Amino acid sequence: MTDSPLPTLVITGATGRIGGRVARRLAARGVAQRLLARSPERAPRLPDATPVQGGYGDHDAVVRALRGARTVFMVSASESPDRLAQHRTFVDAAAEAGVEHLVYLSFFGAAPDATFTLARDHFHTEEHIRAKGLSYTFLRDNLYAEFVPDLAGEDGVIRGPAGQGRAAFVSQDDVADAATAVLARPADHAGRVHDLTGPDALTFAQAAVILSEARGRTVTYREETVEEAYASRASYGAPRWQLDAWVSTYTAVAAGELDGVSEAVPRLTGRPATPLAEVVRTRD
Ligand SMILES: NC(=O)c1ccc[n+]([C@@H]2O[C@H](COP(=O)([O-])OP(=O)(O)OC[C@H]3O[C@@H](n4cnc5c(N)ncnc54)[C@H](OP(=O)(O)O)[C@@H]3O)[C@@H](O)[C@H]2O)c1
Repeated sequence: MTDSPLPTLVITGATGRIGGRVARRLAARGVAQRLLARSPERAPRLPDATPVQGGYGDHDAVVRALRGARTVFMVSASESPDRLAQHRTFVDAAAEAGVEHLVYLSFFGAAPDATFTLARDHFHTEEHIRAKGLSYTFLRDNLYAEFVPDLAGEDGVIRGPAGQGRAAFVSQDDVADAATAVLARPADHAGRVHDLTGPDALTFAQAAVILSEARGRTVTYREETVEEAYASRASYGAPRWQLDAWVSTYTAVAAGELDGVSEAVPRLTGRPATPLAEVVRTRD
């Protein structure tokens, strides 16, 4: 008797929000998948899903885990000072294992000189994937709508140097639905970049009004200077790169780099993108 071959589709990040949603959607469609996880025992138990072990920075484990795979959904790793190095190691290992197509969860406006510091890491990851000669699809999601309530402090104030700039907050369910559509027919999306956004580009002042109405608690937006933003976050004791990431989320909005509504979610999912009001009404 021989072991049956492992599925040729691999999902990473399945212990998390986006990867977990994607894995559940694929399972519901009857698609067999490997779930690559740092701790496979924490991977969701799903029909026709096989957990395999590997962290992005562990080249040999990733090569073992991805052998025979054709398509990989790569969720960007948790934020850390060496995230880009881990991404590059993962991409190198995927190429070595013979993976044909990487679907990478990138970020809106990924660019070498992006104001949002982490969007630069996403750009360099994209570049590394291209340089390796892999077939690719980049899903550049905007800020997650589910996180907007968390931006308000206990006093109900969203503080930041975002000026009157706009962001096109996107729901995680929409991101997962779009990713699932791409993974169902990866060849149709080879070489494509899809910006994943919500249906509206909103200022933080508008987002605060929507939050207030949806959750019955007054939320306001108070603009900070960049200096005030660093000072108001200093008490968290976060390292400098993390503070830079937090503050530059807002300055990127001020610079207009998260503004712009894309039609990719409706096009990929066949239904309208979810408005912020609906996301925050249904979130716990
Ligand atoms: N657009 C936005 O607003 C926004 C906001 C925050 C983050 N992000 C990015 O979007 C990604 C997905 O979001 P999410 O909400 O699904 O995040 P999440 O719930 O934190 O899940 C992240 C997933 O990635 C896995 N992972 C993290 N680092 C890894 C590594 N080095 N090697 C292998 N697996 C690793 C985690 O596995 P473990 O269970 O082992 O930790 C987890 O399954 C995040 O990781 C982050 O890069 C985007």
